[in-house]
Amino acid sequence: AREQYHEFVIQEASVTRLCRQRSIMTVNGQFPGPALEVNEGDSLIVRVINRGGYNVTVHWHGVRQMRTGWSDGPEFVTQCPIRPGGSYTYRFTVAGQEGTLWWHAHSSWLRATVHGALIIRPRAGVAAYPFNTASKPPAREIPVILGEWWDMNPIDVVRTATRTGAAPNISDALTVNGQPGDLYRCSSSKDTATFTVKSGETNLLRFINAALNTELFVSIAGHTMTVVAADASYTKPYSTSVVMIAPGQTTDVLVTFDQPPGRYYLAARAYASAQGVPFDNTTTTAVFEYDDGSTSSAPMMPTLPAYNDTAAATTFTTSLRGLRKAELPSRVDESLFFTVGVGLFNCSTGQSCGGPNNTRFAASINNVSFVLPSTVSILQAHYHANTADEVFTDDFPANPPVQFDYTAQNVSRALWQPVPGTKVYRLKYGAAVQVVLQGTNIFAGENHPIHIHGYDFYILGEGFGNFDAVTDTAKLNMDDPPMRNTVGVPVNGWAVIRFVADNPGVWLMHCHLDVHITWGLAMAFLVEDGVGELQSLQAPPPDLPIC
Ligand code: C2O
Repeated sequence: AREQYHEFVIQEASVTRLCRQRSIMTVNGQFPGPALEVNEGDSLIVRVINRGGYNVTVHWHGVRQMRTGWSDGPEFVTQCPIRPGGSYTYRFTVAGQEGTLWWHAHSSWLRATVHGALIIRPRAGVAAYPFNTASKPPAREIPVILGEWWDMNPIDVVRTATRTGAAPNISDALTVNGQPGDLYRCSSSKDTATFTVKSGETNLLRFINAALNTELFVSIAGHTMTVVAADASYTKPYSTSVVMIAPGQTTDVLVTFDQPPGRYYLAARAYASAQGVPFDNTTTTAVFEYDDGSTSSAPMMPTLPAYNDTAAATTFTTSLRGLRKAELPSRVDESLFFTVGVGLFNCSTGQSCGGPNNTRFAASINNVSFVLPSTVSILQAHYHANTADEVFTDDFPANPPVQFDYTAQNVSRALWQPVPGTKVYRLKYGAAVQVVLQGTNIFAGENHPIHIHGYDFYILGEGFGNFDAVTDTAKLNMDDPPMRNTVGVPVNGWAVIRFVADNPGVWLMHCHLDVHITWGLAMAFLVEDGVGELQSLQAPPPDLPIC
């Protein structure tokens, strides 16, 4: 295993998209940012130097960060932000995971442009991809980062929404590797990501959904995709014409370029499950171009599911299976039931009430709308126990305060008005944890991509309606469930996940739609130290930023 050193300089760069020039935050002037490529077992040392005008942190999305919680990155959860002019060095090892992860800013909405791929290959000379054909790896590997573009500075978009209590503006374009593609107003082939391929070869595409607020359907005209990994865990090969990928998730697919030489669109557009909620209804494209084909013809366009095709989304996600048998303890030490959803705050005098019917948007887990501390991170407060009670409490509820029909519309707001709070749920080291994630329909039901920091988890099942502890538990897949770090909780439905709390620290769990984390759809697990050094959080690094 090697050790790699990188410098990430957060800096402004000027780019033109949709005929408008705008200054964006970048890493090293690149958009998307630099791809990190490691072999399993390698260690990364990344010095982040902030030469931009905003506070920033960087999160290594999906990296387990065993005992290195100080390098996880979410602002005010594991560290204070790196201020303009400051720097912080993240140090961690990438172990036990192979496939595609990514890194992104974890402050405000900076991740719109501050993000990049983290590619993890098997240990050189020791292991190989399990999906190689005739012992041959794919001819080439192509990172495909899906994103979202605003004509305005996204930081101003979210600041406006926070001030008014209204929903933020939807994006103006979806993007592939930072480019909208040629179907937008005043965009052309030079605004289109183009990949040259050879007839007959099989390539590995590494999809990353870096969009802030949009779940996506992705297809390639004329070509079948075979999923081999998701969130840096291998899956049984699954062939499909469409991939559904939620913000935070990654999906690795093999594509054999076996069609008549020519040009084929990769296209992506929204899977928008919330009824009546505005979304970016545009289509982004990239082009696969055979090197022996004509480059003059118009590319073929794939057929994508309709934006509200929940059946297509469900078929995709429920078809994924872990490559190997799950390693799960049969016991459950902590059985948790968390409702996830968007609600509304009553508006008080002096506040701007831009939400529906004179409210402000709010989102919650078990009715608690998460509030970040501002004077010290939760992890620092926990580690230096004396400051603990000042910024958080450990009374996050294991169940919602009241039970009701979670999928019903028009639930009385008196019954269901979220309460702001900075609460964690305490877990003993080594506890086997099951969480039922139950979507609610207070404001509108929606597929919520729920992400947990510091852990991968098995997705044992998902379904629609209210989770039934007897009949639904009986149907859970204990054999080959997929392992992921982000699970789409189906619209008006539920998902069941399980993990073992073997990583001490403070770990944020949140909806990976940034608009929902902005509204408080988050909580944190505090995992206590176990016995001895190897089960304990390491000491904080000396350059950890202070608030
Ligand atoms: Cu990909 Cu908390 O983030």
